[in-house]
Amino acid sequence: MSGYEFFTSGAPKQAEEPKWKYNLRKLFTTKSLDSFEIEKETSDLKRTLNAFDLIMIGLGGIIGTGILIITGQAAATKAGPAVVISFIISGVAASFAALCYSELSSMIPVAGSAYTYVYATLGELAAWIIGWDLILEYTVGASTIAVGWSGYFVHFFDHFGIKFSPSWTSAPLVFDQYTGYLERVPGAYINLPAFLLIIFITGLLVLGIRESATVNNIVVSLKVFVILLFVIVGSTKINPKNYDPFIPPNEGTFSKFGVTGILSASSVVFFAYIGFDSISTTAQETKNPQRNLPIGIIVSLILCTILYVAVCVVLTGVVPYPELNDPAPVTVAINAMGIGWLGVIVDFGALAGLISGILVFLLGQPRIFYSMAKDGLFFPTIASKIHPKFKTPYISTVITGMICAIMSSLLPIGVLAELTSVGTLLAFFLVNVGVMVLRITAPNAPRKFKVPGGPFVIPIIGALLDLLLLFTASTASLIRLLVWMSIGLIIYIFYGRSHSIANNSNQYMKNKELNG
Ligand code: ALA
Repeated sequence: MSGYEFFTSGAPKQAEEPKWKYNLRKLFTTKSLDSFEIEKETSDLKRTLNAFDLIMIGLGGIIGTGILIITGQAAATKAGPAVVISFIISGVAASFAALCYSELSSMIPVAGSAYTYVYATLGELAAWIIGWDLILEYTVGASTIAVGWSGYFVHFFDHFGIKFSPSWTSAPLVFDQYTGYLERVPGAYINLPAFLLIIFITGLLVLGIRESATVNNIVVSLKVFVILLFVIVGSTKINPKNYDPFIPPNEGTFSKFGVTGILSASSVVFFAYIGFDSISTTAQETKNPQRNLPIGIIVSLILCTILYVAVCVVLTGVVPYPELNDPAPVTVAINAMGIGWLGVIVDFGALAGLISGILVFLLGQPRIFYSMAKDGLFFPTIASKIHPKFKTPYISTVITGMICAIMSSLLPIGVLAELTSVGTLLAFFLVNVGVMVLRITAPNAPRKFKVPGGPFVIPIIGALLDLLLLFTASTASLIRLLVWMSIGLIIYIFYGRSHSIANNSNQYMKNKELNG
């Protein structure tokens, strides 16, 4: 096959083929593995990142609001001290997805991450679905981290006697579990620190001040250092009585404690593991990507899982779990220990560390738009317009930033985190399926890393775990996911389908003529 035959089944309509069959076939057009070889060879990006940089990028994207804030809320409202079990369950689901990401990234080492893998395996419609879905992961994820940052911002200044009014530092909307609606919080107007932080980071990204690997390494070291410090000092202050009951009895609704509460907490704390996949978007800037991508993904996830379990044990051991429902639960635990200096250091580390997570996510989103626009599935004027002076995709960066800023200024962290988690679980599910499909359709393609245990065991268990966690999320989040995906489908039907390069026979023929 010529390398320029980018698409394996986007060939023009056959004379005898009925129109419906042709249209149906187009939905499953896949990008050929050869096309990725060309993208790889012709990339202008410089290969500078080594395995250590990738591990640090992974830790930069993974460690954040999930462990520093959502853990406390999940313990207080859903699982009690058994939140540690929730972390282990979602850690297993994340590591199975990580193994699948590793296999696919070692086969298809180009930027675009899950969107690209799915285009190569399940076809165009599924690729569109995942591309649209990744917007939830990156954009809503960045908003979630900004709200978490705001909580630590308020606590940090508190150490110095500077108080901010909750009217201007918390969400004016709250999710009512019983009515299923967002309700107005009396007296709260806007989460201004979260809003301003996103505007500031968007400005930096437009100017092209990219987070360099060196800066990331410093910020991540600081983040890991403060977490280790918290674990080491906190482990001396544990009161075993706080672990009793370890699994608080269920209070009558699915997500309130008991075994179902643990499961429901798993789907929420899953947020804490999101981010290792951002490593795969650096594929074209990585030395020896087939070897280093799997190392980066797997090692960073193992390190995070160990850190997370340790934090859960300390957090729920130091404070009775009902007290952890706070915008900065780690600070609550430190206050209970009565060690003032530790609070200042941890809050500072959290403030600096959370910024790196937002940067990674807001940097990733325009890249996904860019990949989709290059394939003709998304509006090129929005996605691929580069600023003449700063050389950055400024329109998509500003639009992403504005949406993110508005969401983070109005919505509570729980709603944002759950929406990010369900979106990402759907993406991970498709990546698990993608590994199996590619093992069948391209059994002999070179794979530097293979999911252990054969082609099906881990991907099937991983896919089922993703579905389990997806369906234990709140009904409201699932409805939001459904609404979001329906909007995406409408855009695909009215725009992507007719502009897709894979399915545009003129373009296909042009490529064919050019290359014989
Ligand atoms: N895993 C990232 C966090 O917890 C998204 O902030």
